[in-house]
Amino acid sequence: MRTLHSARIALVPVDVRNARELWEVLNAPDLRKFQDIPRVRAEEFERQVRARPKELRANSSGRFEWVLRAGTPQTTIGWISLRVNDRSPRVGEVGYSLVLDARGKGYASEALQAVIDEAFIEGELDEVQACIVPENAASRRVLDRTGFREERLLRSGAVIRGRHVDVLLFSVARAIWDRARRESMARSSSG
Ligand SMILES: CC(C)(COP(=O)(O)OP(=O)(O)OC[C@H]1O[C@@H](n2cnc3c(N)ncnc32)[C@H](O)[C@@H]1OP(=O)(O)O)[C@@H](O)C(=O)NCCC(=O)NCCS
Repeated sequence: MRTLHSARIALVPVDVRNARELWEVLNAPDLRKFQDIPRVRAEEFERQVRARPKELRANSSGRFEWVLRAGTPQTTIGWISLRVNDRSPRVGEVGYSLVLDARGKGYASEALQAVIDEAFIEGELDEVQACIVPENAASRRVLDRTGFREERLLRSGAVIRGRHVDVLLFSVARAIWDRARRESMARSSSG
């Protein structure tokens, strides 16, 4: 995996050297309301990270994750992940969070766009999905801004803090991403 750069953010791949940086973010306040983040000790988390795939390329599967750094001096503002199941290796699912101070600045949308591009280009995926609980309005706006479309409600589609909850499935297909990308390149070359 490689470090990705967007206008204001460095997306640094998570490996055993920075696993603890991510572990600390995962334990920051207000991240668990709308998503399931298992509580594990730092050493166990490092062990899990060590077992993850090292390269995102066509047909690779597993969990790919980046910590997000921004500002001067740079601080860790959140994380973003892409999970590819080996039973459907052309489809990925993203997840993301920002620490409280970093919200409301467009960082999540910027990071998500960078990871979608990476998923389609390096991972050669056909589709990227995301699931949110319906009341997560901030996350829904992030998905709308980055070209996702709402697909359907998955009843009991996730477990959050020990309870089964319904989630909305969103997705962006390669063809839609490709068209938006070509339109944006045409706009920037004509302007
Ligand atoms: C979901 C979450 C990442 C969204 O964060 P966010 O800060 O709202 O999203 P962005 O970083 O894209 O910022 C967008 C907001 O910044 C504003 N903004 C300010 N400056 C901006 C800029 N330069 N560019 C773009 N947006 C900007 C936008 O207007 C937008 O506000 P709005 O949604 O009220 O219109 C955040 O709420 C979070 O971490 N929640 C807890 C964990 C969670 O729910 N994760 C998702 C599970 S599915």
